[in-house]
Amino acid sequence: MTNELKKRSDISPTAKKTLLGYMSVVIAVILLMMLLGALLRGTQAEFFGLNWAFFYKIMTLHGAGMVGIAGLGGSAVMWYFLSQHVKLSTGILIANLGFFLAGVLSIIGAVLIGDFGAGWTFLYPLPVHSLGTWGVEAAVAYLAGLLLIGVGFLLLYLDIGRAIIKGYGGLARGLGWHCLFGSSQDYPPASVVASTMVLIVNVTGILAGAVVLIISIVNALYPAFQPDALLVKTLTYFFGHVFINAAIYMAVIGVYEILPVYTKRPWKVNKVFLAAWSFSTLLVLAVFPHHLLMDFNLPTSLLVMAQITSYISGIPVLIVTAYGALILVYKSNIRWDLASGLLFMSMYGWASGVVPAIVDATIKVNVVMHNTQWVPGHFHYYLLIGLVPMLLGFMLYITKPDTEQKPIKSKDVTALFLYLVGGVGFVMSFLYSGQNSVPRRWAQHMEPWLITDQIATVFAGLVIIGFLMIAAKIIVQIPKSG
Ligand code: HEM
Repeated sequence: MTNELKKRSDISPTAKKTLLGYMSVVIAVILLMMLLGALLRGTQAEFFGLNWAFFYKIMTLHGAGMVGIAGLGGSAVMWYFLSQHVKLSTGILIANLGFFLAGVLSIIGAVLIGDFGAGWTFLYPLPVHSLGTWGVEAAVAYLAGLLLIGVGFLLLYLDIGRAIIKGYGGLARGLGWHCLFGSSQDYPPASVVASTMVLIVNVTGILAGAVVLIISIVNALYPAFQPDALLVKTLTYFFGHVFINAAIYMAVIGVYEILPVYTKRPWKVNKVFLAAWSFSTLLVLAVFPHHLLMDFNLPTSLLVMAQITSYISGIPVLIVTAYGALILVYKSNIRWDLASGLLFMSMYGWASGVVPAIVDATIKVNVVMHNTQWVPGHFHYYLLIGLVPMLLGFMLYITKPDTEQKPIKSKDVTALFLYLVGGVGFVMSFLYSGQNSVPRRWAQHMEPWLITDQIATVFAGLVIIGFLMIAAKIIVQIPKSG
């Protein structure tokens, strides 16, 4: 049977198998992390009784697992579509998966065997101040695990950079500057523009992450070496912010490439599109101090810049993408199925999730809201209802048998409905708790907060059922497409 993966004549059988391996890992990890997430929410709701140390171990695994897998899933989408325009190395694709799995093993060992529970952000000096809950070995294993994952991604991006420079004559041309600032009409494809942006920002982010991880490892092993805490925090949040944003920017390539197939209309790259991606390249790098608004000892100019850039940072790409998707779908007689439904849903999740994020980036609001559940409320919005549906839509589409051109089935509508209703209910519960000043990252909640926690746990259950139904379809398709 032919299908999208098999039709890709310029992708070797090894690359196809590796991408299927990526997909299997992505589905397994997201499912496992969702179950852990429900365990966390159910503990806050007092449905389950995890002891606090175990809660923080699970919270660390959930955060690190979800952020890492978002990056891995996004890189699979980017690699697949970019490889249609430039020659990428399959060996590096395999190596990235290998580094990822090795890093995951080290992190799991640190958490489950070594009891590490400092949160995925490993904020210095918490990894080495556990009050006896975990040892220095566990902290080093966790930090080294993240470092291994970073090395894999760095290799992947270097290969992508090499290929874009070779194929398009430089990164500026990959961003389409010859068209934006010149008279050339030779526009690069959307996937190349987005990949160039991601590679620029994420290499910068990962290098900052590597520096901070090495500093933290040296500090753990030689406590006499005491880095500047504010510098370490700044680098950590620069890395975390850029990495998770890059994951969305990689995954959105699926929207650019797949929705046009369903609508039978091309995704047009024009000067507005190019300007938006170039603008966001700079702004994604500049906006990260909005994570540091509570650090009064940072220069005020940096904090003010964070607020202003937050208002405009994601907007250009978001607008050209969401508006572009609406224009593409409007009166197009699009064939709705699970994949196109998920990709369209992702536009809603991404666009809506950005709104509470921007609210939180306002200094006056942030002073009150920052350590409340408003924060997991906004990032779960665009990750759970934006990024994850992009990944699922991509996986469904490229493993789909060609023969399947039937209208959407009622069980697929049910899966979409459960995922969307569960997702919106789940994130709204976080936002509602946040505006009531319920703190984030608390294992134990006060009596008046429990009802929202309980409702949220039920919604989480609906998301997981919806996810399982969608994942089951992909799992059935995967063996047929290898
Ligand atoms: C069924 C789906 C999910 C459930 C039930 C869930 C649940 C939770 C809960 C209860 C927390 C702790 C909230 C608090 O601070 O009080 C949390 C944190 C977090 N979640 Fe999720 N989540 C889900 C999906 C996701 C997804 C899809 C992502 C990313 C792709 C994600 C990334 C994170 C991150 C990064 C944290 C922060 C951990 C920390 O504060 O150290 N989650 N989640």
